[in-house]
Amino acid sequence: MVKRINILCVCLGFSALANAQYRNSTQVGSADCPGYSVTSVQTRGNSLFSRLSLRGQPCNQYGKDVKDLLLEVDYENSRLRVKISDADQKHWEVPVSMWSPDKSYRPKTSMGQLLEFAYQKDPFSFQVKRKDTGEVLFDTSKHRLVFEDTYLELTSSLPENANIYGLGEVVDTFRRDPTNTTQAMWGRDVADPVRENLYGTHPFYIELRNGKAHGVQILNSYGMDVILEKNSVAYKAIGGVLDFSFYPGSDAYEVINQYTATVGRPHQIPYWSLGFHQCRYGYVDIDEVEGVVKNYSLAKIPLETMWTDIEYMDMFKDFTLDPINYPLERVQKFVSELHDNGQQYVLIIDPAIQRNESYATWTEGVKQDVFIKNPDGSIYIGQVWPGYTAFPDWFAPNTQQWWTSQIKNFMDDVAIDGLWIDMNEPASFCVGSCGSNRTGIPPYPWEDPNYKPDIPQTFPEPPYAIHNAYGNLSVKTVSTEAVHHGGLTEYQVHNLYGHMEAIATRKSLLSVNPNKRPFLLGRSTFAGSGAHEGHWTGDNWSTWEQLRYSISGVLSFQMFGIPYVGADICGFNGNTTEELCLRWMQLGSLYPFSRNHNGKGNIAQEAYVWPSVAEASRKALHTRYEILPYLYTQFQHAHETGHPVWRPLAFEFPNDQEMLNNDLQFLVGPGILASPVLAEGATTVDAKFPEGIWYDYYNWSPINGTAKRTLSAPLDGNLPLHIRGGHIIPTQEPAITIAQSRENPFSLLVALDEQGNAEGGLYLDDGQSIHVGQQFSKIFYRATSRGVQARGHFGYRSKALLKNITILGLKAQPNEVRVDGRAISPNQIFYHAEKRTLIIAQLSASMNRPLRVTF
Ligand code: GLC
Repeated sequence: MVKRINILCVCLGFSALANAQYRNSTQVGSADCPGYSVTSVQTRGNSLFSRLSLRGQPCNQYGKDVKDLLLEVDYENSRLRVKISDADQKHWEVPVSMWSPDKSYRPKTSMGQLLEFAYQKDPFSFQVKRKDTGEVLFDTSKHRLVFEDTYLELTSSLPENANIYGLGEVVDTFRRDPTNTTQAMWGRDVADPVRENLYGTHPFYIELRNGKAHGVQILNSYGMDVILEKNSVAYKAIGGVLDFSFYPGSDAYEVINQYTATVGRPHQIPYWSLGFHQCRYGYVDIDEVEGVVKNYSLAKIPLETMWTDIEYMDMFKDFTLDPINYPLERVQKFVSELHDNGQQYVLIIDPAIQRNESYATWTEGVKQDVFIKNPDGSIYIGQVWPGYTAFPDWFAPNTQQWWTSQIKNFMDDVAIDGLWIDMNEPASFCVGSCGSNRTGIPPYPWEDPNYKPDIPQTFPEPPYAIHNAYGNLSVKTVSTEAVHHGGLTEYQVHNLYGHMEAIATRKSLLSVNPNKRPFLLGRSTFAGSGAHEGHWTGDNWSTWEQLRYSISGVLSFQMFGIPYVGADICGFNGNTTEELCLRWMQLGSLYPFSRNHNGKGNIAQEAYVWPSVAEASRKALHTRYEILPYLYTQFQHAHETGHPVWRPLAFEFPNDQEMLNNDLQFLVGPGILASPVLAEGATTVDAKFPEGIWYDYYNWSPINGTAKRTLSAPLDGNLPLHIRGGHIIPTQEPAITIAQSRENPFSLLVALDEQGNAEGGLYLDDGQSIHVGQQFSKIFYRATSRGVQARGHFGYRSKALLKNITILGLKAQPNEVRVDGRAISPNQIFYHAEKRTLIIAQLSASMNRPLRVTF
């Protein structure tokens, strides 16, 4: 029998455990290290403070053991925070300003009632448990805590074959292998390899256990490994502090709600950003870009936003235009034509600024002292597309103002609608510094076999080498010894670079257009980046494997609070094929961020290139544009609660073993199941249907889950989609642009469940303002087998009217249909007995007030 002594206020959920509980447990892992013991404990309100002391001789495993530590435990609104830091407070911590927490978040049940923090005094270890069931979610008792100047290690036990999701950024299955996963956290510019560290760092996981979910996050910007093996999760960081957050859920969506309340809610997106985007690396001039827009229009494929990669710049210098290939007047004319057609234009910028005394962005930056330095105080020089470059230091006090003025000056000339911030790991082509006296535009190092940097470099490498797949931490990025404002080194803050650029760039865009939702897409992300930007999954490959992995890529960023995400459709590296591109356009038409983007030198892959792909794209985008009101509503939910726009089947059906590993199907919002074709030559999909009724989106025929079905999906067909019984999907007739679609009539697709009920919502506003005041509508739809009702807040004046209501799963033909009490003409009512479908047509109901339809 385990004896448990509660010495502290149980209502707060703190408890100390008698040592006896652990006497027989085997110490594994860093067993030679002494660990720590608790020397004093204080509680204050919702917090516990404790001092920990090294229990014996230092082990100095990968650094020097820190003798005295502080333990702080806080029950906050959205999390249980457990922080272990050095008592001298010398170890650097990520500043609170990195996050934009949702201060209005009020949990239904307080954290102290949901979670319990229990600790053992000697050796110190802790457990996080569910208060109601006593289930242990996190347990460090089998492993010694190691806290050294250059190495921290903390390990928790996990259940056998645990269901762990998250720990990114990575190209991998959505559920991570619990027996053999090493995820290094070190932002890296690399072309989407499988199971290696990538652009962003998200040391956050959700575990599903017995149908419930909880989340665990560590906040630390130093390089780190998170390792899943031997029924444990180990954190091995090369500095900083151990700052853990525990999110009790108890379902995965509530975990994400709590997580995004802590790190920042996803930003509110502009409506137009849900349209289809086209980009490529290698559009040589404005003629070519114009030609692409024209070809989309000729092919009648909706193109909402055109993009241009680095070619628009003069020698790849940010905030310039190539005077020959992208002359100002031509670009201005092009942008105003796009705007006249209701389309948008987005351009790329990279953080690296060319060293060039006749380039104002550089000279002004030097004057304002905005660049990262060498340890000797000179400006640190790396190499990116424009040759030798310096890197803005987002910690420096003048950087924001300088960056904003560069963006503003450029936008005064070219009225772009958003920015794409790339290469912000930050990428740099030398190994560490290229040499601070270098100027000019040399060949890229990989093109120059004689290349050598010309200054001695030390690359402080920590004794513990994290599993950065490039090895040395300074490879292809800024050297770890480079210095930021306040003496911070790149070693400490590397993983924050892209996130801080996003914060700064969003502020810049807001200062140019204060009431317009900024559009920002970034490559290197961190916890909380979703409050500022969307993301694309980087330089993927035109392969079937990467088509498949794109689903788990999008799903994992839903967890990370960055729901506006997509992969490069048809693939970035290498040549696509007609069939792959067709299947990718079908899947990509459902990505939250839907953009076809191609690498330089590959065959063209715009949606119109092959007639078959053009036809599939028209169909797929027709469906996307049809469900835009529903999709936009999902983004509003995400903004308010963090709820994912794409939902993993594992999160939706955590009790269904078949769904825990299913990352080849997914839900769009709660109500639409997608079963895409992901294999070459396939014209059918083996789909699994979870419990419930699922109605074919196109022909309304029902499938009763739990079932496995082989669905027909020929190349000239549609991507199989099913509406889930119990859901109401608001739709709108599609047009070639979103501005036009938004004027078209609405419809409701009502999918009744077994009990004859369905629910849904619709959020409407002007789609672009930050401050909508009361000018939004939040409509709640409810249906039974006797009628449909719309209620809610109606603050937005929509000119578009509700035209059709289609009810699926209605068992009997109604005698009459009344709208707000008045019987409508029988000519407007169609009932298909075989399909059990009722269509109420030719309504002209307002979207701006409540509605009651009875039958
Ligand atoms: C990087 C980006 C890619 C872009 C290229 C050129 O590789 O990830 O999307 O096209 O740089 O700017």
